[in-house]
Amino acid sequence: LDIAGNSSQFIMVVGGLGYIGSHTVLELLKENYNVLVVDDLSNSYESVLHRIKALATEHFAAQDRLMPALHFRQMDYRSPHMRSVLANYSFYSISSKAGPSIAMEDVVSALPRRFPFSSLQRTDSGIDMGSEDAQQNTLRRQSRITGVIHFAAYKSVEESIRMPLRYYSNNVCGMVDFLGLLEEFGIKNFVFSSSATVYGEGANCGMPLREELCVHHPEIFKDDDGIERRVLPGVMGLTSPYGRSKFMCESILADIARSDPSWSITALRYFNPVGCHESGILGEDPRQKPSNLIPVIASVLTGAKPHLDIFGTDWNTPDGTAVRDFIHVVDLARGHIAALAASAAGRIKAPFRAYNLGTGRGHTVREVLHSLQETSRRTIPVREVGRRAGDVGFCVAEVRRAETELAWSAEKSLPDCALDVWNFTKTRCESQASDEIIC
Ligand code: NAD
Ligand code: WQD
Repeated sequence: LDIAGNSSQFIMVVGGLGYIGSHTVLELLKENYNVLVVDDLSNSYESVLHRIKALATEHFAAQDRLMPALHFRQMDYRSPHMRSVLANYSFYSISSKAGPSIAMEDVVSALPRRFPFSSLQRTDSGIDMGSEDAQQNTLRRQSRITGVIHFAAYKSVEESIRMPLRYYSNNVCGMVDFLGLLEEFGIKNFVFSSSATVYGEGANCGMPLREELCVHHPEIFKDDDGIERRVLPGVMGLTSPYGRSKFMCESILADIARSDPSWSITALRYFNPVGCHESGILGEDPRQKPSNLIPVIASVLTGAKPHLDIFGTDWNTPDGTAVRDFIHVVDLARGHIAALAASAAGRIKAPFRAYNLGTGRGHTVREVLHSLQETSRRTIPVREVGRRAGDVGFCVAEVRRAETELAWSAEKSLPDCALDVWNFTKTRCESQASDEIIC
């Protein structure tokens, strides 16, 4: 019995109009998932939704196929109205112990004499109807949302130091309350946007970072020499409230999964997401002033900034500038779909599991700069300044876990990223008649 009149399944993407979310929503649609986006537009614009729709429409028209549903609710995910959003994506089903096919009269007899829709909506799954028929038939509330990808968070390291409460409220408290709501609706498939920042100062070890360097309960793992090692929770030197918020969220998720193994939670630890959709239509378009390397370079290319400050040229790296694992955002988006697929196929053996999403290769800040100079055929003025507080010199992913368990690996290279960023930057310039932008 489908009271909603439609039992089609949805993936809910919270923060789905932001940089990584928007690319993920597009990839989900392309993979035929119906998508419900919830975003309060605190760091994005509604126009992103139209751009996703345009790209998806083009994709499906080329294949002569129908596009899956794309729904949008502009809402803070901490709002009490989230309950009614979830209720709208619920339906009731009756299961019968009598057999798989239920006759209509059984359905009717399973319903209480006066079918109390209003009270049912407030009840949890598995309602005992207190009649003889209740032993045969069970009325259950189910959600059409089969998985949630949670991107919504504030992400500026610098701002988090100035306004820690803002960060803990949105990133941590928001997620805790939201998880309670999801549990109420029986939605227990959760993909969390984590970050390489959880490795803290440990990143500086100069080796690709294994997931075991940041665990939330004691774990035993085999090192590269096959020797069993025991790791304890905690990491060294988490330098910002933002970084701590990601670590805290992961710990909370790991505790929930331990208390109730029917959850399937994946924490995806992104390394340095860069690049954008190859069309040049979708990219990084925040309300906040950018502080990450590539968006800053893009603002120098558009003339919005006079030069790039290189933070630190004295790191122990081939050219003295810091090394990062830059991962193309479309590869990253595909990583989320791989996580959903692996979870649905039962390939993830633990109710909480963390995965690095990176390329496994490092590039220096200067290499990134040269790549963008070559692609754009423009000189990017630089100033060499001292190290930025809280930076690490090296941060590269060990990617074997994602390759093996999620059947996922990054495909795009740094020049691919540079080309797409330049393409997006030019498209933005052409569409913005701003005096400040000189293209
Ligand atoms: P983003 O700011 O572009 O996207 C976040 C989206 O969430 C925005 O559209 C914003 O409007 C929305 N949002 C924020 N708070 C909300 C709330 N309370 N309710 C509803 N919507 C809300 O950021 P992004 O770069 O796409 O990052 C997405 C996630 O990935 C974040 O959790 C971030 O911490 C994490 N992450 C990002 C990076 C990176 O370098 N971009 C690296 C590692 C991890
Ligand atoms: C990369 C390198 C800078 C800007 C941050 C967060 C991390 C994650 C990703 C969300 C560093 C140098 C940068 C500039 C520069 N975010 N740089 N001049 O610091 O690796 O990671 O974003 O989870 O948590 O800490 O990325 O792009 O800011 O910097 O020289 O104007 O580029 O010093 O070495 P970072 P980034």
